[in-house]
Formats: sequence, structure tokens, C-alpha cells
Amino acid sequence: MNILFLINLSYVAAAILFIYGLKELGSPATARRGNMLSSAGMFIAVVVTLLDKQILDYKWILLGVVIGSIIGAFAARTVAMTGMPEMVALFNGSGGLSSLLVGFAAIFLESNSTFTLITIILSILIGGVTFTGSMVAYGKLSEKISGKPVLFTGQQILNILLVVGIVICGVMFELNPDNLNFIYGVIALSFLLGIMVVIPIGGADMPVVISLLNSYSGLAACAAGFAINNIILIVAGSLVGASGIILTNIMCKAMNRSLSNVLFSGFGSAKQIAGAVEGEVKPISAEDAFYILEAASNVLIVPGYGMAVAQAQHVVKELQELLEKNGAEVYYAVHPVAGRMPGHMNVLLAEADVSYDLLLEMEQANPRMESFDVAMVIGANDVVNPDARENEASPIYGMPIINVDHASTVFVLKRSMASGFAGIENPLFFKPNTRMLFGDAKESISTVIREFGS
Ligand code: TAP
Repeated sequence: MNILFLINLSYVAAAILFIYGLKELGSPATARRGNMLSSAGMFIAVVVTLLDKQILDYKWILLGVVIGSIIGAFAARTVAMTGMPEMVALFNGSGGLSSLLVGFAAIFLESNSTFTLITIILSILIGGVTFTGSMVAYGKLSEKISGKPVLFTGQQILNILLVVGIVICGVMFELNPDNLNFIYGVIALSFLLGIMVVIPIGGADMPVVISLLNSYSGLAACAAGFAINNIILIVAGSLVGASGIILTNIMCKAMNRSLSNVLFSGFGSAKQIAGAVEGEVKPISAEDAFYILEAASNVLIVPGYGMAVAQAQHVVKELQELLEKNGAEVYYAVHPVAGRMPGHMNVLLAEADVSYDLLLEMEQANPRMESFDVAMVIGANDVVNPDARENEASPIYGMPIINVDHASTVFVLKRSMASGFAGIENPLFFKPNTRMLFGDAKESISTVIREFGS
């Protein structure tokens, strides 16, 4: 048995662990195991790659491992749950930059065939776009730059010119592989293209962009894998590329938008039509909310981003148990894009030990909405905005929402009348069956819980 055979065999084992791990990530019940299996696969892949005889110097690798581990461990420990999408954006960007650097380094390998040169250009192009695109997405999400879409005349033409410029530089490099100026041209134009494709996207569309960039980072890694002829990089890159595009598709469906509409429509740039909302806001105190909840036999909890901000998941679980003790049936309805990242609410509810059986998907919750005495909206806004159903002029028209307004009574727990991520007004707050429970969600629920005890 030669060493190459052993290396390839280990790569196959790692690939199987990746694929099985991904499958396990599909359900909250098995997700932890899936994560462990995929990590084990990556560990095998890294160790085997390090044993590869082509590696000449371990000093730099070791230095990279130490620095990377310190940054990774620090980031994972300190990042708040609400800052997770920004971190994912940074990680995607790092992945893109790594593939770019791997592709660039591959230029200096002894002899490169035409095919290898093409994969080098692709890894640099996709890696560069992913890097700067992710940095802009990070800036928008962390509000370091404005989240509003940046649109100007001739934008698409400029993008086309950038792509043409990249193709020309790429072809010139292919013909003159010794002239690095052409590859520097590809790098610079790719960086610019990454910025240009993300700036017109704004507001509520950022999750889709993050997922798409995740897919790009996979494709860049895959191209880099071809460039240096590393099978496991090709496999891992393809898996990330494919799963990212599937997630992108799921999110587009959840918002009833096409990908091209997300990428090119400049969502959120339209002005809200003033005076469109009618009705009166009816605030309610936590004490009065308690009386209504005490009499309810079916309660639906709809969490949103505000639950994450308030870190209210544990008191929500406590309230659920008190309501159940009081004889009520309690369910949770989770919108696919509630919060700021895919599965955001599921992770928080799992952290508070909420049983998976109580979690309803939007499609399960909506048909039975009339049967709920109370729908408690906890820091959610856009995902329960009836304008998506009723107002054709609304920028979110057509996006499927959780129809909480069809429940007998709706409690909306939030601090003010401020808008949500999409920056648009919500007529739900003005509906006759809606009561606004103003205040921090955790404090409001804690007050209701105290009422149960007194
Ligand atoms: P949002 O529409 O963003 O609304 C969240 C609401 O929470 C705000 O209106 C805010 O109102 C309230 N809030 C904030 N802090 C609070 C606190 N401490 N206590 C009580 N309420 C608090 O959230 P959503 O309904 O979950 O919708 C998600 C939005 O984000 C969608 O537009 C979606 O497209 C977008 N998005 C989603 C993702 C993914 S993948 N999930 C990623 C990025 C963006 P006050 O300020 O008045 O309290």
C-alpha cells in the first residue's frame, strides 16, 4: 500500500463524514452530532494533508494554526448570538481570501497546464469577489456602513465592464503566465466587482447575500482545490457551494422573491407610502396581559429578532410552562427568516430547552391560526407584517408571513413603534385585535410570570 493510496482513502473517509454530518445538521435533534462528525472529517483531512510529502516547511503552517486557533476560539467565545451573521460574513470573507491566496501561490508551482491556469484564475476571481462582497455585507450588518441599497445609473453597465475586464486580464494571463500584471488586474477587478455586487442589496435581503457568499466561498475553495490538485478541498468546496445555494434558494422562497430580484432590485430603497396605515394603537400593561393569558386555552408564541436582543428565551420557556400548568396548550411558530440568520430562533429556543415537538413551521401554524386565543409576538416585526399579504405597494408584498392577525388576540412585545429590519411600518400594530405590550421583552414577560405567582 503506498502513501498516496492511504491519503486518498483518508480523504474519502473525511468526505463521507462531511456528507453524513451535513445530513445530521438538517434536524435540531441531531445537529450537534452532525457538527462533531463534520469537524472530525475536517480534522482527518487537515492531518492527512499535513502528512503529505509535498509539504516542505511546517513552521509557517504551525504559526497559521496557532494564530487561527486563537482568533477562532476568541471569536466563538465572545460573539453575541445577535452578532453571528456578521461573524459568518467575516468567515466567508476569510474563506474567499484564503482561496485567492492558494490560487495565487499555485502560479509559482513548477508547470501549470491550461486547465490549472483556468482554475487558478477562477479561484482568484471567486475568492476576490467573496472577500470584498463579504466585507461589505459585514459592514452593512454591523451598521458600520449604511444598510441602504446603493443604486446609481449605469451600475449594471459598470458591472458588465468589470466582468469583461476580468475576462480580458484572465485570457492575457493564460497567454502570458509569466506576466503577473494580468493576474494583479484580475485580483483588483474582482475586489471591485465584489463591492459592486453587494452595495445595491440592502435591508432585509442581507441574509440571502450571506448565504450566497457562503456558496461562493465554497466554489472558490473548489477551484483552489483543482489548482493545487487536492481532492478533499474540491469535495469540501463543492459541498459548501451546493449547500449554500440550496439555503439561498430556501430563503428566496421564504420571502417569495427570485434570486435575481434579490440581487438587482435594490429592495428597501423605495419610500414607505405615508399615511397608508389606519387604526389606533392600543397599549396593554403586563398585568392586564396576564389576565387574558390566564383565560387562554391555546397560545401561540411567535419569536423574532427582539427575543434574541432581549435574551428572553429562558423567560419565554418559563411562561410556556406556567401556561401549560394553567391548562393551556402552547405552541411556537418560527418563520424561516425570523431573527438575523437561518435557524436563529431555533437555536435560542433549543438553548432554553423548548421541546422540538412544540415548534410549528409557518405552513403548519397559519391554517390553524383562528384556533389560537392569543398569539404572542415576541420581538418579531417584519415576519408578521400583514402588508406582505394585503398591500401591493409594500416592498415586502408577496413574502409569506405568519398570519398572527387571524388569532383572536395578538400581543406584540416590543419597546416602541420602531420598524424592523426592512424599515417599513407594520399595520398589525393598529389592528383592532392587537394589544401592544411595550418594553423590553424579557422584562415584560418576567412581569407576567410574577403575576402568575402572586
Ligand atoms: P425585525 O423585523 O427586525 O423586528 C425586530 C423587532 O424587535 C423590532 O421591531 C424591535 O422593535 C424589536 N426589539 C428589539 N429589541 C427588543 C427588545 N429588547 N425587546 C423587545 N423587542 C425588541 O425582526 P423579525 O420579525 O424577526 O424579522 C427578521 C427580519 O430580518 C426580516 O426582515 C428578515 O428578512 C431580516 N433578516 C433575516 C435574517 C435571517 S436569515 N433570519 C438575516 C438578516 C436579516 P423595538 O425597537 O420597538 O423594540
